[in-house]
Amino acid sequence: MSMNAKESVLERYSEGAKERQESLCCPVSYDAGLLAMLPDEIIEKDYGCGDPSRYVQPGDVVLDLGSGGGKICYMAAQLVGKTGQVIGLDMNNDMLALARKYQAEMAAQLGSDCVSFVKGHIQDLALGIDALDEYLQAHPVNTHEDYAALKSWETAQRNDKPLIPDQSVDLVISNCVLNLVDDHEKQHMISEIFRVLKPGGRVAIADIVSDQPIPENLKNDPELWSGCISGAFREDEFLNEFTAAGFSAVSYDKWDAEPWQVIAGIEFRSVTLTAVKPETGNNQASDRCLIYRGPFAAVVDDDGQTYVRGQRVNISEATRKLLVNPAFNNGFIDLSAPGNEIPASGCCSAGKSTTPKSSKGGCC
Ligand SMILES: C[S@@+](CC[C@H](N)C(=O)[O-])C[C@H]1O[C@@H](n2cnc3c(N)ncnc32)[C@H](O)[C@@H]1O
Repeated sequence: MSMNAKESVLERYSEGAKERQESLCCPVSYDAGLLAMLPDEIIEKDYGCGDPSRYVQPGDVVLDLGSGGGKICYMAAQLVGKTGQVIGLDMNNDMLALARKYQAEMAAQLGSDCVSFVKGHIQDLALGIDALDEYLQAHPVNTHEDYAALKSWETAQRNDKPLIPDQSVDLVISNCVLNLVDDHEKQHMISEIFRVLKPGGRVAIADIVSDQPIPENLKNDPELWSGCISGAFREDEFLNEFTAAGFSAVSYDKWDAEPWQVIAGIEFRSVTLTAVKPETGNNQASDRCLIYRGPFAAVVDDDGQTYVRGQRVNISEATRKLLVNPAFNNGFIDLSAPGNEIPASGCCSAGKSTTPKSSKGGCC
C-alpha cells in the first residue's frame, strides 16, 4: 500500500460521506424491516458488501469496524434491544459526522440511546484518535525527544485508557473495511479484534476476497486500493489469519458465487467470515453431548478432536458453545439443549463416542 493509497482512503470516503459514490457500491440485500426506520441519506451512502447485522443477538455489545454512515449500527441497534449496546468506529471525520447527524433522531425512534460512534483506527483499537489529537495539540512533536515522549504517552494511553477495552465486546462486525488496512498491519488488526472480544465472543466480517495473489502494481494503485479491491485478503489467507490469531470455528458463512469484479483475471467477491473466540476455563469434559450430522464421514475441530458422523460424543461446555453456536450454520445436533438434559450421573468419557442409551439425550 503506497502513502498515496492511505490518503486516497481518507479522501475517497470523505467524498462518499458528502455524495453517494456509485463505484463503491456493491449490491447487497438487507432486511427491509430493519431499513424501514433509517433515513434515506444513510441508506444511499452505503458502501458495504454484505450484511453482518444478521448475526446480532439481543443483549449483545456490538462493535462495528469502519462504521461509515452508521447504517449497520442503526440496524444492529434494533436487534440488541434495551440491554445491548452498539459502538461504531471509524477514522474519517466526514463519515463520523454523517453517522452522528441522525443519532438523536434514531435514539428517539429506538427508545434508547444505545448507539455511539468513536474515532479510531481499526488496526489499533486501544488508541482513540481524539485523545491523540488532544495530546498533539498540547505537545507538538518537533524533536526526537518529543517523539519519544509521544510514544511513551501512547503506550500509557493504550494500557490505562484504551478506546475499546479488553474483553468488552460480544460481537465484532465489519462491512467491507478490513481490506482497506495496510497489509503490514492486518495481522495486528486481527489480534486487536481478538483482544476486545469477550471469551465466547463472535465475529461476522463481510469483506472482499481475491482468488489469486494480487500483484504489486495493483496494490500500488490508490484507486483500486481505496475501492476495496487491491487490499483484499486472498480467500484462503483470510480464514488462515483468523485461525492463527486464536479464533475457532472460522468459516465462510456467506460466499457470493458471482465475483463483484474481475480485474487482470483475478476474481474479487464478497464473503462473510464468521468465527468465535474460544472460552477458557471450562474445558473440562462434562455431560454435554452432541452428534455430528454429516454429510462427511468425519470432521476434525481446531483442537484435533474428531467427530464421526452419527456418533454421540461427550464434550466440554466450551466446545458445545463453539460447535452448536446458534449464530452460525453448523453440522452438529446438540443433545444437551433444553429438554434433552442427560442424567446427572453422566454416561460417557471425555471426547469418546459411545453407543446410544435409551434415556433421552444420553450419550451412552
Ligand atoms: C467501504 S466503507 C464501508 C462503510 C460502512 N461499513 C458501510 O457498510 O457502508 C469503508 C469505511 O471504513 C473506514 N475506514 C477505512 N479504513 C479505516 C481504518 N483503518 N480505521 C477506521 N476506519 C477505516 C472509512 O472511513 C469508511 O467509512
